[in-house]
Amino acid sequence: MSITLKDKALIGFSPLPDNEVFDIEDIYGAKHYRRLKTVVRKTQGAWLYTQDGRKILDCLAAYSAANPGHHHPKIVDALVRALQENYASVISNVVYTDVLALFLKKVAELVPQLGLRFGNNGNKVLPKNGGVESVETSIKLARYYGWKEKGIPDGKQEIIVFENNFHGRMITIVSFSTSQKYKEGFGPLTPGFKIARYGSLEDTEKLINPNTCAILVEPMQGEGGMYQPPKGFLKGLRDLADKHNLLLIFDEIQVGLGRTGKRFCFEHENVIPDAVVLGKAIAGGMVPVSVMVTNRALMDKVFQPGHDGSTFGGYPLACAAGIAALDVMVEERLAERAAETGKILKKKILDIAARSSHVKEVRGEGLFIGIEMKNGDAMVYCEKLLQHDMLCNDSHHHTIRVSPPLIINDDEVDYIADRLERVLVG
Ligand SMILES: Cc1ncc(COP(=O)(O)O)c(C=O)c1O
Repeated sequence: MSITLKDKALIGFSPLPDNEVFDIEDIYGAKHYRRLKTVVRKTQGAWLYTQDGRKILDCLAAYSAANPGHHHPKIVDALVRALQENYASVISNVVYTDVLALFLKKVAELVPQLGLRFGNNGNKVLPKNGGVESVETSIKLARYYGWKEKGIPDGKQEIIVFENNFHGRMITIVSFSTSQKYKEGFGPLTPGFKIARYGSLEDTEKLINPNTCAILVEPMQGEGGMYQPPKGFLKGLRDLADKHNLLLIFDEIQVGLGRTGKRFCFEHENVIPDAVVLGKAIAGGMVPVSVMVTNRALMDKVFQPGHDGSTFGGYPLACAAGIAALDVMVEERLAERAAETGKILKKKILDIAARSSHVKEVRGEGLFIGIEMKNGDAMVYCEKLLQHDMLCNDSHHHTIRVSPPLIINDDEVDYIADRLERVLVG
């Protein structure tokens, strides 16, 4: 569908021409991203719009943040209402707000009971902003638990993590990344992490010692190349955690909230962690919110006044968006739809891959599908896909990530298949 001239004049924040956008970013912005040379002016549903009237299908969905589609009307309404009725702005954390209380309750009740060995007490939620902050919160949970409950000397606590992990970009988190570029030159790095091969229970067990307090893992790896763990791996981690009294923490920032065809990725094998970290889609991609969720008894053992805090974490605008986005996920059956649509899309992609000389492997669940390329350079294909009005990017250089908003319809599935056919076969 092309856009009329009248609409074109109205698109986006300003009439600044694309070449000036490139120049201004170049002069004033840090160069910490490699960007594709496209300026998006407006977004709606699964589509991105440019000034020259192009309409691009978003098959990245901001790495799962835009799961309900861009500008979902119910989430927009919640935000507009909060702004117009004057309960949106940040309020000091010394007082209560009804909207935070209701957001915490919604999240706590949506997540299945975590940390079963701590009792069937319900869950508690600690809110932050970007995802990386909540990963750090889970590290605090684990270390404090190791110190207080296991008697590990403070400063000696160790957490087991995995090769090719991605949990964000702050110093402590990149300290245990296996990507040299993420951490080189940014030392001193934070100690206390041991790295096992993803999928290897043997490695994991070998790393456990009396100072180990937790295992932190992505139940499917996003940035690391879109890998599903071998069957039984997560269950094996659960058994190890139980045997050695470790906390099992799942980072579901990218793969939770419906993306892989289940509300929570851990539901595929029904392995219940002690804590889970969620972010990105939790407020529908409209405002940054993240949470660390754990068993009520465990949260109360660790977090008492003075142990943590965040000016904006859990502020009213974010909570209003979060409540609306979680309602949308449930009411519009986003997880179920991702499972159904993902099955159809993956079948089409497998068929294309079978006729392509470029594809090494197709993997994934729900609308979290990776296409690994034989030449190891997925970005070459992503650039071609963008020329055909489909936005994707690479995961770990070698894999094209296909992760559109979970609301895509049959025509949009056909559109994706058509573009992949042109680029991978034609
Ligand atoms: C699994 C995982 N954890 C943590 C993060 C960090 O989230 P944020 O970029 O919001 O800090 C990401 C971001 O892509 C992620 O995929």
